[in-house]
Amino acid sequence: MARIQKIKGFNDLFPEQSAKYALMEQRAREVFGRYGFGELRVPVLERTELFARSIGEDTDVVGKEMFSFPDRRGRSMTLRPEATAGVVRAFVDSGLHQPGRVSRYYTFGPMFRYERPQMGRQRQFHQINAETFGAAEPQADAETLLMLAAFLGSLGLDDLSFELNTLGCAECRPAYREALTGFFGSLDVNALCEDCRRRVKTNPLRVLDCKVPGCRDLVKDAPAVSSHVCAGCRRHFEAVLEMISAAGLKHSLNSRLVRGLDYYQRTTFEVCSGEIGAQSAVAGGGRYDGLVAALGGPDVPGIGFACGMDRLAMLLDPVLDPEPDFYLAVLDNRAEAQAALLAQRLRERGLGGELGYGAASLKSRLRQANKNRARTCLIIGLEEFEAGTVLVKDMTGHGQESVGRETLLDKLDRFFPSPSGPGR
Ligand code: HAM
Repeated sequence: MARIQKIKGFNDLFPEQSAKYALMEQRAREVFGRYGFGELRVPVLERTELFARSIGEDTDVVGKEMFSFPDRRGRSMTLRPEATAGVVRAFVDSGLHQPGRVSRYYTFGPMFRYERPQMGRQRQFHQINAETFGAAEPQADAETLLMLAAFLGSLGLDDLSFELNTLGCAECRPAYREALTGFFGSLDVNALCEDCRRRVKTNPLRVLDCKVPGCRDLVKDAPAVSSHVCAGCRRHFEAVLEMISAAGLKHSLNSRLVRGLDYYQRTTFEVCSGEIGAQSAVAGGGRYDGLVAALGGPDVPGIGFACGMDRLAMLLDPVLDPEPDFYLAVLDNRAEAQAALLAQRLRERGLGGELGYGAASLKSRLRQANKNRARTCLIIGLEEFEAGTVLVKDMTGHGQESVGRETLLDKLDRFFPSPSGPGR
């Protein structure tokens, strides 16, 4: 029979890889919990309109990269390309917001973008997201950035570069738009790609984010958004920079950082690594003050970020499982049922290990116990079967001892000094 192959850009994560993802989730829970965040789980499927209205029709994400399809009743649905829009929708849907209250959520999970797969870029990828609603103050921006740095630091990733920019607000954006339109008017617009020729009219800021090489060259001299922001935005940004500097977060300013999603205002940022190739951004985020209202909610500000777990995984050392407490070897078929029962009782007491199925030679079983990195090999041969005992062999090289099985279960601390399982 022909094999059914996996879909291009969609990966399987076997235990060695998954362990890294579990570690990232665990650290995120610990760190984000200290900042008052709680976990929110949102669906992976949303109405297409949600993303069109939040991320923006002119973005590459919405225009070219979404997995969208009609459901059985012909309504357009989309596998989420990012989490922020869904988190905002859930926040609005829930009606939980109370004036003056700050809400903080984190969420983990797969996202889907129809991009060209390459190293560090998949069509199904995984993000850790954190979003804060109801805080307009620069402290929230600073706290968001510092929490992100603390999370990355908890993974041992201290060698990453933080780049920041400010994109202005609804008040100062029109003047910048005008400056950009003026700049593009002075260029040979035909040198831009087809999408950008349209974007010049509909959403000129998006041209700055185009990945087509010709467009990239042309926008090099475009006016920078950060030099067109209003006094309020400038003060806000300066306050953020002051706070993160005081806290010791190394960063640099990048006036070209516009991000690929339309909803950002004021502070934006990206975190990059020099060690994972062209797709170097391991996290990105910023403030999105108009988004909750644009999705039908109260006019509350928002700020957040997402980390790319797959890219972070490339930077992490392998995560080793704890050494199993035992490997249980049966040397005579008649002992199989007794051995299964012993393994079960050990696991009920919180120990972990593998039961070797069927009977095999002592040599091959010891080899397997070694391969498993088991701390003890428990052996039931004919003699032990008949006597109701088990031979406990210390795999770290400190001898062996034959004991009654009840004695073994009664004196676990003696035979398994530091068990792997949480149960005891
Ligand atoms: P983003 O910059 O589009 O922002 O994605 C965040 C991170 O997800 C990227 O820095 C990257 O590490 C990872 N990522 C994106 N696309 C891919 C891909 N195709 N393959 C592998 N990794 C990828 C957002 O998604 C915003 N929602 C972040 C945010 C939250 N802003 C405010 N709140």
